[in-house]
Formats: sequence, C-alpha cells, structure tokens
Amino acid sequence: MKYQRPVFLLPLALVFLLIDWNTSTTSVSNGSSSEKTSSLSCFEQLQGAENQGVQWQTENENATSNGGKKSLAYSCPKLYWEHDTHDSTCQVNSFDPRSFLSTFRGRTLVFAGDSLSAHPCKDLQDTLKGSGYDSSQVNTSYSSDPFRKGILHGCQEFENGVLICCSWLAFSNAKKERYWANIKLFSAINGIALNVLDPSDLMIWNTGLHHTSHYSGTIGDMTWLVNNTLSDWKTSKSLASVPTLWWKECYAQHFKNGHWDSWSDVQRYKTAKYKNLKRQCYDISKLSVENETGIYNEAAEPVVRSFGVPILRVHKASIPLHRQHFNAIDCTHFCLGKHGPYDHDHALMTKLIEAAIAGGNLPALPKERSEKNQFDLQHRWDLLMEHPTDSLMAKMDVCAKSKKSKRPPSWKAEKDGLPPPLKKCLRHSEKVHGGGLKS
Ligand SMILES: *[C@@H]1O[C@H](CO)[C@@H](O)[C@H](O)[C@H]1NC(C)=O
Ligand SMILES: *[C@@H]1O[C@H](CO)[C@@H](O)[C@H](O)[C@H]1NC(C)=O
Ligand SMILES: *[C@@H]1O[C@H](CO)[C@@H](O)[C@H](O)[C@H]1NC(C)=O
Ligand SMILES: *[C@@H]1O[C@H](CO)[C@@H](O)[C@H](O)[C@H]1NC(C)=O
Ligand SMILES: *[C@@H]1O[C@H](CO)[C@@H](O)[C@H](O)[C@H]1NC(C)=O
Repeated sequence: MKYQRPVFLLPLALVFLLIDWNTSTTSVSNGSSSEKTSSLSCFEQLQGAENQGVQWQTENENATSNGGKKSLAYSCPKLYWEHDTHDSTCQVNSFDPRSFLSTFRGRTLVFAGDSLSAHPCKDLQDTLKGSGYDSSQVNTSYSSDPFRKGILHGCQEFENGVLICCSWLAFSNAKKERYWANIKLFSAINGIALNVLDPSDLMIWNTGLHHTSHYSGTIGDMTWLVNNTLSDWKTSKSLASVPTLWWKECYAQHFKNGHWDSWSDVQRYKTAKYKNLKRQCYDISKLSVENETGIYNEAAEPVVRSFGVPILRVHKASIPLHRQHFNAIDCTHFCLGKHGPYDHDHALMTKLIEAAIAGGNLPALPKERSEKNQFDLQHRWDLLMEHPTDSLMAKMDVCAKSKKSKRPPSWKAEKDGLPPPLKKCLRHSEKVHGGGLKS
C-alpha cells in the first residue's frame, strides 16, 4: 500500500487541542489533604483500568485531517501526554531511554504477538537507537518491520546488555489465518520459547485482532489460545526455563463498531482506494466504550487474571486517538513515536518494570549473567537468534510470506514436531538482523 507522505507544517503558534478528556480519576483523599494515597503497590495500581486516564494534546488541530482531499493519508500530528495516577508516587513520567536501559540492564524483552506488538516493539528499538523517536511519519514501521521483510522474529542489542526482540508469535488461532502463527510457545513438547529465556527476562504478549470473521476466527479461538498458552507456560515453569510473562491489552480500533470485523469494514477497506467512499476512523468514544476494553480484552482478561499474569493496559489511553492512524482506512495501526500511543506506552511499561523489580515481581538476574556479562550476552543472543537447533529462531516457522490457507496444523501435529525452519528465511534474517553481536 502506498501512503502519501503528508507535508508537516510547523504552526507559528502551537494550538493545543484537548482530545476527549473525560476524567474518571477520583481521589481517595478525604478533603483535609490533597495527598492521594493507596494501600496498593505501584505495580498493582499501574495495572488498574481506572488509572489509565491519559490526557492527550495534539500539536496542531488542523494537521489531523487532510482537508477533505482524496488522499487517504492522515498526517500524524505530534502528541503530548500526561498520565496522572491515583497515587502520585506511581506517576508515569516521560520515557527516558537511558533510564530504561539502566533499569533493564542485562535482561531480554520479547514482544510477542501480531502487528500491534511488532509496531511498538520496532518503535522502542528505534527510540533506543536514537533514531525515529521524533520522526512524524509512516516510514519506520513498515520499512523496518521484520514481518514486511519476510521474517517473523528479530532481536537487537542495546547498551547494558539489553536485548529487545520483536516476534510474531502465538498471534492467531483463526481457522483461515494467512500466516503461520507459531502458537506453541511453551508447550512441553517443542515449545518454541522454552529454554531460550530466563525468568528475569520479560515476554510481553498479546493476541486478539487476527480472530476476525474475515479469517474465520472467533473469540472462542482466541480464548482457547490464551488459555492454552498460559496453561503451558504455568506447567512448563517447573520443567524448563521460561520468561516472566505479561499480557498487553489490545489497542482500541477505530472502526465503526469499535473493532474490525463487519462486512462494511472489509468492503470499505477493499474499495476505499478506488471509490470515493466516506473514509474516516471513528471516534469510538461515542459508542460509550469509556469503561470497556473491547471484545478481545474482555474475553482474554478473566483468563489472564486466573493465571495471575500482570496486564499492561494500553486500551483505554488509545481510545481518543482516532486521528493518529497512518490513513483513514487502516484504523488499527497507529502513527509512531510521539505521534501515536507508543511513546506513552513505553513510559508506562518502564514504570511497571521498575515497580516489578522493586517489588520482586520480576526476578533478579541469575548470578552467572551478572558475573559473565559479555559471554552471557553472546549466549543469550545465540539462543534467540543463531543456534541452529536450540534457538527460538530455529524452532519457529520463520517465513512470514509462507501464507497458509488454513489453520496451521502444528498444534494437532504436535507429535510430529514443528515444520523445519525455512532456510531461505534464515538467510534473509541474517541480512536484515545481522547487526547483532557478530557484526
Ligand atoms: C483525613 O486524612 C488525614 C491524613 O491522611 C487524617 O489525618 C485525618 O484524620 C483524616 N480525616 C478524616 C475525617 O478522615
Ligand atoms: C484550522 O482550520 C480552521 C478552519 O479552516 C481555521 O479557522 C483555523 O484558524 C485553523 N487553525 C490553525 C492553527 O491553523
Ligand atoms: C525511512 O526508512 C529508511 C529505511 O529504514 C531510512 O533509511 C530512511 O532514513 C527513512 N526516512 C525518513 C525520512 O525517516
Ligand atoms: C482453560 O483450560 C482448562 C483446561 O485446560 C479448562 O478447564 C478451562 O475451562 C479453560 N478455560 C477457558 C476460559 O476456556
Ligand atoms: C465510566 O465509569 C465512571 C466511573 O465509574 C462513570 O462515572 C462514567 O459514567 C462511566 N461512563 C460510561 C460511559 O458508562
């Protein structure tokens, strides 16, 4: 798909627009003091839905629409945000790459899921490299997303021995999913994410958006995937090395019904390019979704909670951002950096990680890792990317372009093992992701 790159004009005077800010914050103070306090830890508080009221401001109101021209492009104006928590000591401050890399020293972070895991992941990688952070437009995600280059998994190394991997894993159990979805993350038999990460490492996982009727997917398929994955993860904890796992909410989608599924969305998507249909992403707050988290999160959350898995909440804060999409027909994928929700979400994630480390919810680094840092970094890299049989890369089906017309048979064919990794993609991955330790 070709996007017109919009001209981004800096206004002489910045006009701040307050978007749909409906505060639902209530103070527990009794009136005699403005101090907000809570008996919950920050780790608990930051997971509370009621604490996700983010106040957004856009730089220039008029930059958000294209003035009714035929172009499909939106223009991704820059955003500013404030995230006030119930308890001021848990306040989410702006994202600071150095402080993140210091907090996360020696650890690996894997974003697992679909494009709405991969995009923020790429955004974080770009931000930490110091590039792309302020780039306003569509360029980075589509050009550097490993999926678009034909592979499903790629890690990058950062200061302080931090590895960050963007991985299309366990993102769909829909019957007519187009791609191998690598749904066997933690299965005791050949689970692709077994013995490649330590409990001090973090996997942030999400699935949902691929379970649409378009791919013959149902909410039940999604719930099954969540339940089975978490159940495997729990069982395998005592048998193998598994990472700490957090769930990340699905972002808000700004289609007419609040999610992509209806025939009209599919039609609109197919024909909008050619016909002068009404194109817009919808202000879904009009659907009274203020206190809802959408069909996917609502189905997943009870299961996630039943396994005691922490939740990174991004849905509510993304509800007002219906104009922060790349264009007016794809109302799912957001603009990058400070031009969409991800800048805030990196900050929220950092705060949650800090709170988890402080409160013992993210285990300390294993002794050998802190002692033999450089050796260990190579070892960690190999287990994720390079080892010909033991690495996550080797165990998964890595070719994004090998489209399937039906549900991947891997789950049912568990006893037969996984399909062999496709060498062509591995070679490709070296080209794309060769910037790791070996270069
Ligand atoms: C209100 O809170 C303050 C400090 O938190 C406390 O000293 C005071 O007794 C409280 N007053 C009432 C009426 O609960
Ligand atoms: C935005 O557009 C409106 C209507 O065209 C105009 O009145 C207003 O001055 C514009 N604001 C800015 C900051 O350009
Ligand atoms: C767009 O992406 C390419 C490849 O990642 C990069 O080389 C180029 O500098 C980017 N352009 C802009 C304007 O960000
Ligand atoms: C999750 O799986 C277990 C057994 O594996 C089953 O008992 C339970 O009902 C499932 N829960 C949901 C919500 O599907
Ligand atoms: C959302 O919840 C808040 C607090 O419970 C309530 O005041 C508000 O009316 C609710 N909004 C909707 C649309 O139900």
